[in-house]
This record gives sequence, structure tokens and C-alpha cells, in this order.
Amino acid sequence: MTDAGSPSLDDGGERYLDLIARCLTREIFLDQEWWDADLRQWPGDADELRTQLRALGWRAVRRGDPAARAEGRDWPPTAETMVGTERLDNVAGLCRRAIEEGVAGDFIETGVWRGGVTILMRAVLAAYGIGDRRVWVADSFEGLPVPDPAYPADEGLDWSHVELLKVDADTVRANFERYGLWDEQVCLLEGWFADTLDDAPIDRLAVLRLDGDLFGSTMDALEALYPKMSPGGFVIVDDYGGWESCRAAVDDYRSAHGIDAPIQRVDWTGVWWQVPA
Ligand SMILES: C[S@@+](CC[C@H](N)C(=O)[O-])C[C@H]1O[C@@H](n2cnc3c(N)ncnc32)[C@H](O)[C@@H]1O
Repeated sequence: MTDAGSPSLDDGGERYLDLIARCLTREIFLDQEWWDADLRQWPGDADELRTQLRALGWRAVRRGDPAARAEGRDWPPTAETMVGTERLDNVAGLCRRAIEEGVAGDFIETGVWRGGVTILMRAVLAAYGIGDRRVWVADSFEGLPVPDPAYPADEGLDWSHVELLKVDADTVRANFERYGLWDEQVCLLEGWFADTLDDAPIDRLAVLRLDGDLFGSTMDALEALYPKMSPGGFVIVDDYGGWESCRAAVDDYRSAHGIDAPIQRVDWTGVWWQVPA
């Protein structure tokens, strides 16, 4: 909501964004875990079922763990984001700051999985009634790449076969639609970052969120997109604390470009910094 040129949210707007975030993580539904739903459809004994599923390699046979979900240290079966509460709140908070502080440009996440972070970014624009910024949704939509030998930091990190990380574009689109947030302000950039980001028709960015895990994925995104950052904009890195490969790419890029803006910690893995105005 905007009054007299000074963007702000009323209580309804605050509650809307909070509810969207809690739905995206599924944290308000953890007492209605997926396991119970599956169990009710099974005519036999629960312990027997558990044993049979374990024999099949199924491990998601427990109630949701609130602490793990809050910290984003799990593989949530249905949530639209694996990011936990603190990192999701950080996304909303910095998108809101960009709007309220008048930082020009769009929002982007590179590495979206099921799309939850970008859905929240679009919800922030909706909450403020903003129609002239876009949300860019960049992903291969087929999981992580085979590590490029040009990036030694990624050696041995071949997660390209991990099916759980492969979420196709139709599924991500459907996830936006589930929240009523799929429209012309959302733009998919489909393909490997090395092929899509350089020529993406993005003018300015107010928020750049990196979540591609690898050195190569992080470096490709920084090289293509950091020059488009507006002064006062925000760079968020999901994997800085958790993945040495990602941290090395961020440190190398910052060092090569003389970026000394202080790195702020979000939680055990997420960080951000503000581009000097
Ligand atoms: C950890 S997941 C992202 C999690 C997501 N941000 C969330 O909110 O749950 C990493 C994503 O990055 C994508 N990815 C990683 N490297 C990529 C690259 N070089 N090009 C395109 N997509 C890439 C994968 O397909 C995957 O969807």
C-alpha cells in the first residue's frame, strides 16, 4: 500500500506477507504432516507400513521437525521452498527495504527449486500494489549442472543426478498460481545461468538472491548480474555458510571487484550485503 509517495504496509499487508511465508515453508501445517495423510489411506498396520516403506528406501516417514524447518536444514516434501523461516523473512525484509528506500529495479533469484522465494518476492510487490517491478525466476528447471572443470572448487560436487533438485517450469508456474501470483510481472529465465543471464532483458536490480550452491553457478550469476545492481540494492547469498564452493565464489568476486561492503549474517548459512549508495 502506498500513501502520498511513501510506501508502507498496513497491518493487513504485514499479516498477508507473514501468512504467505508460513504457507511457503509449511511451518504452520507441520502438525498435519504428510505422513498422517498417507497413513490414513493405508488399510493395514502403521508399524508394518513404516517397515515396508523403509525397506523401499523411504525416509520421509516422520512428523515435520519445526526446528529443522525453521532453519531450512531439511528436505520438505511439499513446501515451495527449502529455505527456512529466518532466510525467508530476510528476503521479505530486504525486498521491503528496497521498496521503502526507493531503490530502483527488479528482484531476482538464481536457483529457485520449487519457486517459493520468488513467490514471496512477488507477494511483496502485490502487498505494496507495485506494478512496475518484475520478479525474475532463473533456473535450469532440471537441477544442478555437472560441475565445470574450469572451476576446481566444484570438483567432486556432482549433484546433477539428484532428482529432488529437478523441478520443471510447469510445476513452478503452478506453484505461483496456487498463491494467485502468476502474472506478467513474473518472468522465467529457463536454462543454465551461463546461457541465460548475460543476455537477460533486465535493466536494473534492487535485490539479487543467489541460491545455486556451486562455485560456477554463483560466479556465473555474479558476473552477469552484479553490474546491474542499483546503488543501495541488496545481494543475498543462501549458501555462503553452508557450501565452501559458494563462499569461495563470493569471496573471489568481491575481492576482484573491490567490494568491501560488510557481509551480514542471516542464519547458519545465509548472508547479505548492501551495495554502497
Ligand atoms: C538449492 S536449490 C534452490 C532452493 C530455492 N532457492 C528454495 O527457495 O528452495 C538450487 C537450484 O539451483 C538450480 N541451479 C543450480 N545451478 C544452476 C545453474 N548453473 N544454472 C541453472 N540452474 C541452476 C537448480 O536447478 C536448483 O533448482
